[in-house]
Amino acid sequence: MSSPQYDSHPTLDAVFKPESIAVVGASRTPGKIGHEILRNLKLSGYAGTVYPINPQAGHILGLKCFARIEDVRGQKVDLAVIALPAQLVQQTLESCGRVGVRAVIIITSGFSEVGKAEEEAKLVEIARTYKMRIIGPNTFGIFYAPSKLNCTFGPNYVLSGKTAFITQSGALGLALMSWTTEEKYGVSSIVSIGNKSDVDDADLIEYFAQDEDTKSILIYMEGLKDGKRFYEASKEAVKKKPIIVIKSGRSQRGATAASSHTGSIAGQDRVYDAAFKGAGILRADTMTQAFDWLQAINENPIPQGENIMIITNGGGIGVLATDKCEQLGLKLMDVPEDLKAQLQETVPSYGSLRNPIDLTANADDETYRRALSLLMHREDVHGIIALFCQTATIDPSLVADAIATVDEGAKATRSKPLTAAFVGGHLSEVAYKRMLEKRFAAYPTTERCVDGMYALVARRRELLSAGLLSLQGH
Ligand code: COA
Repeated sequence: MSSPQYDSHPTLDAVFKPESIAVVGASRTPGKIGHEILRNLKLSGYAGTVYPINPQAGHILGLKCFARIEDVRGQKVDLAVIALPAQLVQQTLESCGRVGVRAVIIITSGFSEVGKAEEEAKLVEIARTYKMRIIGPNTFGIFYAPSKLNCTFGPNYVLSGKTAFITQSGALGLALMSWTTEEKYGVSSIVSIGNKSDVDDADLIEYFAQDEDTKSILIYMEGLKDGKRFYEASKEAVKKKPIIVIKSGRSQRGATAASSHTGSIAGQDRVYDAAFKGAGILRADTMTQAFDWLQAINENPIPQGENIMIITNGGGIGVLATDKCEQLGLKLMDVPEDLKAQLQETVPSYGSLRNPIDLTANADDETYRRALSLLMHREDVHGIIALFCQTATIDPSLVADAIATVDEGAKATRSKPLTAAFVGGHLSEVAYKRMLEKRFAAYPTTERCVDGMYALVARRRELLSAGLLSLQGH
């Protein structure tokens, strides 16, 4: 499918910032897709006008229904959501075009993903005639936090945050809507991109690159139709914000499964790999890794150099973190003599003043506060990995609070990224989630914590290679 010839931004505003929405196929029956979309629109706090369209119904969820979209006379409709059986979609789209709808989300399945490419092409042809944009078909809809717009049949509550998530898998996106809330990971937007008949990854990347409420972009991808446009849009967008991609179908069997899922051609994995690298995109292997990276990137400044320091209360986790740093190509700096002298007042003689700095199992919140303050205010330390192993002597949450306070103080005056791990049982879990709530990058394992720091260093390298950062501190 060729890309649209017109500027994408004004019309995508009709998707994300519509003043009015028609739900065509709004159902009277709770549990049906057309009912749940309407309910989510009502519950999410969307401030625009919503018009349910259903020829059989008088009112649904307290909203007056219209038999046809043509009956919404004298009022403009920016966005129409179509939740009707496939055989009704084409004529409905024509009606939308005739009344001046600017964008359409087609929820309905049964197009190119089941071999009906011609029917799908016809939808695009109609949309182009009327200068409408299409999301889908075969989508669960979109969520956009700044407009309080939950135009999906997924969970009603989604935590607001800084990442725009574009997903080619509906089920995965729906699952993630609940997961992000559970994990306290907010999103600015979720777009179920479906069969990408019109609006594709490149359009959304361009849109979110200029969206002030989005700090990073995450894409779950099975395949691309217009690789060149994706590459160009990404290369431009990464200058402003990071893009992380999870591309499935690495294996031959996976690629075949992807093509029968959304009709995409998964292509050769190494071609994608090279393209991602060339465009400055970070490719994550798993969802967990992608969110770990985003956590680090969203909540931290870009490091001003690559000197990483580890601070720990346990030798073992310090060694594990060191191994992981080596594996990922992170540079652990040698501790300068003047810093060693300062740390001696805080670190017991049986601790270690080498990197990783081992505060020993005796370390309490005050020990962490003092040691971290020293590191935070040094120009030659560019990133800090703070590790804590649960002991019986102190509540991990006290240490979490100490780390948060020191970092908060330092954040005001200088750029110093920090990732923290709390390893242990329930109390450690409480501690790391407490840090997440305070918008710090915190993890339950050393490996994930180091991986978070890796993402920050990788982002710095990317910006450097694009000439968008100075070599200061390098
Ligand atoms: N205009 C407006 N509403 C109409 C209509 C018309 N021309 N014709 C019928 N309706 C009404 C129906 O009466 C019904 O309302 P009711 O339940 O109050 O009677 C409502 O619109 C929906 O129509 P219905 O025929 O019941 O459709 P459905 O809900 O069974 O199926 C889809 C519609 C879109 C859900 C279904 O075709 C589909 O594609 N499902 C899969 C969706 C999916 O998985 N997407 C991808 C997610 S990742």
